Amino acid sequence: MKPNVQAFFDPATWTISYVVYEKPGSAAAIVDSVLDFDPKSGRTRTDSADRLIAFVREQDLRVEWILETHAHADHLSAAPYLRQQLGGRIAIGGDITTVQDVFKRVFHLEPTFRTDGTQFDHLLQDGETFRIGDLEARAIATPGHTPACMAYQIGDAVFVGDTLFMPDVGTARCDFPGGNAHTLYRSIHKLLSLPADTRLFMCHDYPPEGREPAWETTVAAQRAGNIHVHEGVTEDDFVAMRTRRDATLAMPVLILPSVQVNIRAGEMPPPEANGVSYLKIPVNAL
Ligand SMILES: [Fe+2]
Repeated sequence: MKPNVQAFFDPATWTISYVVYEKPGSAAAIVDSVLDFDPKSGRTRTDSADRLIAFVREQDLRVEWILETHAHADHLSAAPYLRQQLGGRIAIGGDITTVQDVFKRVFHLEPTFRTDGTQFDHLLQDGETFRIGDLEARAIATPGHTPACMAYQIGDAVFVGDTLFMPDVGTARCDFPGGNAHTLYRSIHKLLSLPADTRLFMCHDYPPEGREPAWETTVAAQRAGNIHVHEGVTEDDFVAMRTRRDATLAMPVLILPSVQVNIRAGEMPPPEANGVSYLKIPVNAL
């Protein structure tokens, strides 16, 4: 089964969103959508999401799933807007409840904020299979970058979330709350044990100087050439490299707004008495 994969690159956050489908007129899934957010003004826009919607309508697709590989820390999800426009169910890994617990405390969220994942339409468990029309899909737990990370295997294509990046970029960071480089190494090896010609689709690309953004590679290419986890790199080597490198990385510009919105399945916090939603900045807490 070789599904069609349409990629949408967002240059503001280096995120790639996908529409996955069998053929025009068929069922479809959307993976990792982006709601545009300007941190300087606090304004959202739907230009990125509208490009996905236009494609879905053009191809006459029926959206059944709006999948998140994890609670992203670098962009806001457009999942609720897409569901309102196109239908479908919003799903994320079941361990999102752990992430909700952690950030409920960090942001001192309202007491009624639930940490049971019920903001999402469905919580996927490791190994769970589901259908996208005639396509068979499977959730593969890939914790390490966050505890709730899931990769999605749809036919011969795997949407890897924040685990592997393109071979010349390496791997995702592990220094967010709940991250763990040992765990990420093992998750990545689950992906690298898939058939060599499996198509891998990245969640982000941070291209080195002189290379255009790219997002598709294979298990074989990653095993041979990933700068952080090519064949022969041991878990200890990887953890040492990852820990050194993570210590040098700044927080993503949108981490504070992203996390607050994404653990609510993309909804804004409940409006205050004046009808406005506010996002918090914890001072000296992260
Ligand atoms: Fe991420």
